[in-house]
Amino acid sequence: MTNKMWGGRFASGPSEIMEEINASISYDKRLYKEDIAGSIAHAEMLAESGILSKTDVKKIIDGLTQIKTEIEKDKFTFSRQLEDIHMNVESRLRELIGDAAGRLHTARSRNDQVATDFKLYVRATVDHFLNQLAALQLALANKAETYADVVMPGYTHLQTAQPVTFGHHLLAYTEMLGRDRSRLSDARKRLNECPLGAAALAGTSFPINRKMTAKALGFDRPTANSLDSVADRDFILEVLSAASISAIHLSRFAEELVIWSSAEFNFVNLSDSFTTGSSIMPQKRNPDAAELIRAKVGRIIGAFNGLSIVMKGLPLAYSKDMQEDKEMAFDALDNYSLALAALTGMVKDLTPNEEKMAASAGGGFSTATDIADWLVRVLGLPFRDAHHVTGSIVALAEKQGLKLHELTLKDMQSIEPKITKAIFDVLSVQNSVKSRKSYGGTAPTEVRKMARKWIKSLEKLPRAE
Ligand code: ARG
Repeated sequence: MTNKMWGGRFASGPSEIMEEINASISYDKRLYKEDIAGSIAHAEMLAESGILSKTDVKKIIDGLTQIKTEIEKDKFTFSRQLEDIHMNVESRLRELIGDAAGRLHTARSRNDQVATDFKLYVRATVDHFLNQLAALQLALANKAETYADVVMPGYTHLQTAQPVTFGHHLLAYTEMLGRDRSRLSDARKRLNECPLGAAALAGTSFPINRKMTAKALGFDRPTANSLDSVADRDFILEVLSAASISAIHLSRFAEELVIWSSAEFNFVNLSDSFTTGSSIMPQKRNPDAAELIRAKVGRIIGAFNGLSIVMKGLPLAYSKDMQEDKEMAFDALDNYSLALAALTGMVKDLTPNEEKMAASAGGGFSTATDIADWLVRVLGLPFRDAHHVTGSIVALAEKQGLKLHELTLKDMQSIEPKITKAIFDVLSVQNSVKSRKSYGGTAPTEVRKMARKWIKSLEKLPRAE
């Protein structure tokens, strides 16, 4: 049997393998809502422009509405022979309303149809991500406020560097996620142009009103070049690239959770809800959720990469290669969303092990920079000289097996005679973090201020829970 929708010039139907490689219905059926919304907007415009009769359009819209219900109630039979969501819907419409169904495809093509459907889908997904990101930011900012005073080691090269506050560390991620949100909002602005009416590639000879369909579907305007309209997949590439960068942020935090929850670090406790046991080692509590969040970035960047490669050599306008956009994108978008939800849950449940963090914060001569700063501030030493003197103090402490605050004043003066006992004020971890009040610094007062600022702005936004 030849294809009902395009088989006019074919003598026989496609081979089984052809059908298998060609069909996209198994995955593009998830575009049904967008497809039906796009068709309703198109039909209404055709009636308004006098291209179709009001009676036909009423039948079309009633039929499409019924199909939507059938799909949602799981009463719709999807057929692989009908290739994709567009032809499955149209074919059912013909069963329901007869000939009028055949008029719906006037002045459009599956090429502008699929671009419109997919843009609508990606737009709704981006809106969901924006809410999810805000929810995660808020969870981090709330924890940051609660733990603004908790000290922990700050690292460079994963070597203890200077003490920081746990709240400050969490707010670092709030900042990253803020940029992620801004990148996605930006992509949303650019994608919000409607391809519908570009038809196959060249536009149409019918007197359509593209502004009307664009408006009905919530787009800012119609796309301005019909070839570009059907050939463009920037919109999904851009969202995948923004999601990739964001997933890198999620992965870095997940990696820290894995390290921090190890017995060696023991900085944080993860809740039972986000850890698992081992089937052989009864003592284990594995941070599986964090590990999987760390791994998700692989498939998200993979999709960005994969689709970039699909697109890079395609001549204008549409090529069937572009059908490969959906599976990769759906997988990446689903998993990015899942990673956001899981990390939000983990952050909400997270509690720091304050004693362990504080003990480690004082290790590794972490307040050495405070000594150097004191030598500059109080004794007027040039920073380079202060650095050298401090190095000798650290070497002495190391030799004696002592922490910096355990050295005597005499010890210190053996290296720099002008040192007074006031230097001991800067040696404690608490005083060290308290002193770092520069804008964006780790001092609890600063952290509290920043956390409040974020909480205030985030609480105004709608959020997905
Ligand atoms: N299923 C197709 C896709 O996802 C729809 C567009 C088909 N267009 C065509 N000329 N065959 O890209």
